[in-house]
Amino acid sequence: MVCRKVKGDRMVLTQEMMDAIEKNNIVWLATASTDDVPNVVPIGLARPLDSGTVLLVANFMNKTFKNLKDNPKASIAVGNVSECPYQFKGDVEIYESGKYFEDAVQWAKSVMAQLNPKAAVLLKVNEIYSVQPGPDAGKKIE
Ligand SMILES: Cc1cc2nc3c(=O)[nH]c(=O)nc-3n(C[C@H](O)[C@H](O)[C@H](O)COP(=O)(O)O)c2cc1C
Repeated sequence: MVCRKVKGDRMVLTQEMMDAIEKNNIVWLATASTDDVPNVVPIGLARPLDSGTVLLVANFMNKTFKNLKDNPKASIAVGNVSECPYQFKGDVEIYESGKYFEDAVQWAKSVMAQLNPKAAVLLKVNEIYSVQPGPDAGKKIE
């Protein structure tokens, strides 16, 4: 499958990219501390909210959460080679109350009733790279 960004001025996820995030069981979420220590974790509750925003539900995030508060940038990767293996980078917004938070709580509890999310983490995507093995590996999607 060929996956391309929709043409335009801003970074937008294609439907295939959004499907890849939605359908993968997990995405890999990378953050960095202010003293440059990288941290990567698997995240199950991740889904696109629109063509430029990915919601990640903070249930158990610990080092990740501290990193995001101190250094609100993140990267996620989805790795299903038969669909759209991509890396998305951007700025993060954290919501511990309000509509994004309430919607995240509702979604999390519909998946597992005992979850008690502490925040909705929104990744506002500003760079997309292919991670498809082969000649396009690492190429920035323009
Ligand atoms: C399959 C799987 C799915 C997970 N999904 C989530 C999730 O949706 N939200 C979350 O906060 N933590 C989730 N976790 C837990 C995190 O991967 C991680 O354990 C947690 O962020 C603590 O690590 P940290 O201290 O590096 O942040 C998941 C773990 C696994 C193994």
